Amino acid sequence: MNIQLIREQFPSLSLRSSDRPTVFFDNAAGTQVARQCIDRLNQYFLYFNANSGGVFETSRCSDEIIETCRQRVADFIGVKDPKEVAFGPNMTTLTQAFARAFGRLCHPGDEIITTSLEHEANISPWLGLAKERGVKVRFVDINLDDMTINLDSLQKQLSTRTRLVAVGYASNAFGTVNPIEKVAKLAHSVGALCFVDAVHYSPHGLIDVTELGCDVLVYSVYKAFGPHVGVIWGRRKTMEALDTFHLRTVKNIIPDKFEVGTQNHEGIAGALGSLEYFESLPSLLGQEVVENATCAERLRLAMTSIREYEKTISKKLLEVFAKHSHVKVYGITNPARLNERVPTFAINVNNHSAKEVATKLATLGINVWSGNYYALEPMTRLGLEEKGGAVRISLVHYNTFEEIDLLDQALGSLK
Ligand SMILES: Cc1ncc(COP(=O)(O)O)c(C=O)c1O
Repeated sequence: MNIQLIREQFPSLSLRSSDRPTVFFDNAAGTQVARQCIDRLNQYFLYFNANSGGVFETSRCSDEIIETCRQRVADFIGVKDPKEVAFGPNMTTLTQAFARAFGRLCHPGDEIITTSLEHEANISPWLGLAKERGVKVRFVDINLDDMTINLDSLQKQLSTRTRLVAVGYASNAFGTVNPIEKVAKLAHSVGALCFVDAVHYSPHGLIDVTELGCDVLVYSVYKAFGPHVGVIWGRRKTMEALDTFHLRTVKNIIPDKFEVGTQNHEGIAGALGSLEYFESLPSLLGQEVVENATCAERLRLAMTSIREYEKTISKKLLEVFAKHSHVKVYGITNPARLNERVPTFAINVNNHSAKEVATKLATLGINVWSGNYYALEPMTRLGLEEKGGAVRISLVHYNTFEEIDLLDQALGSLK
């Protein structure tokens, strides 16, 4: 993959911090955006800024952009019917809205299963239902040695009372990729729905809801090279059955019943730009693409190449961490298991708090996160919550081997 060419598509990657090139290893908290995204945002404000449903040109164009983006998101996640895709502010808000509506169908004694590996946005909304609807929330255990979910534990907790199994596609703290197909099958074996938080996986690889077999999937576009917009997809049957908290003036149809209030139109235009970036990748990289390949096929090719490149950076990072005996990595470290992770690493450095390490790296122009990054449950399980959590080094496909060398030197200086 020609990373230099890719980096040229992201204007902010040329930023400098304290007169050094900024190294963006904070991607799990939000990636930088592609030029196509910025162009779409600008274009929206310059030419199409209007509310929805008007009979005049700017409104019609604005609606057309939103529907084009809906179709592209459907292509991005392998959905046939774009009406099954709804926009919102972010994953958390959409998950809360889904949970509240789903709660209206639940009865005391019903059960929801989540896992101890989750971001809090895939836990608190379900705990909210425990309070409001008397639903019991169960947690799937995790294997602390490699931060994977324990499928035996899931199997044991499933019963005819289970209504929904909520699971992350990838951990935003440890980079673990969860076996969603297996989880969905297990959920369905007791008649429960499978709800997937794909926020952390979305910039890293191909999402195909048909292959995954899940029922609902949510993500936030700003984690995948776009603006602050959220997406929820759900099977028509599932979404139509929900009694959402929409206004009387909104039709009780999908996607309208999920899109409460005026949407972030410019953000949705930008989201379209970020998907156009992905689509442009195969040609940009000189990959052989059939001339009349569909958007969905181009997206598939792009995401597959990204996933392959990222495995090489994960491997290199693991080699760097292994060199430094004062660095502890939580999660999968076996280079033979790169398929089971994305390049997101939680580490700690002997004799330094996570915050001290992040602060030191910031002085060197390396942006990383420290703390729990809302992965409260797994941090607590690891006993790290009271100790300040861990440093999160999270890379995406625009990061380079040279940047990893800089991290290597920085870690060396923290001995
Ligand atoms: C795995 C995961 N799930 C959910 C969220 C919540 O996303 P948002 O803040 O966009 O609602 C995040 C954000 O960091 C995340 O990483």
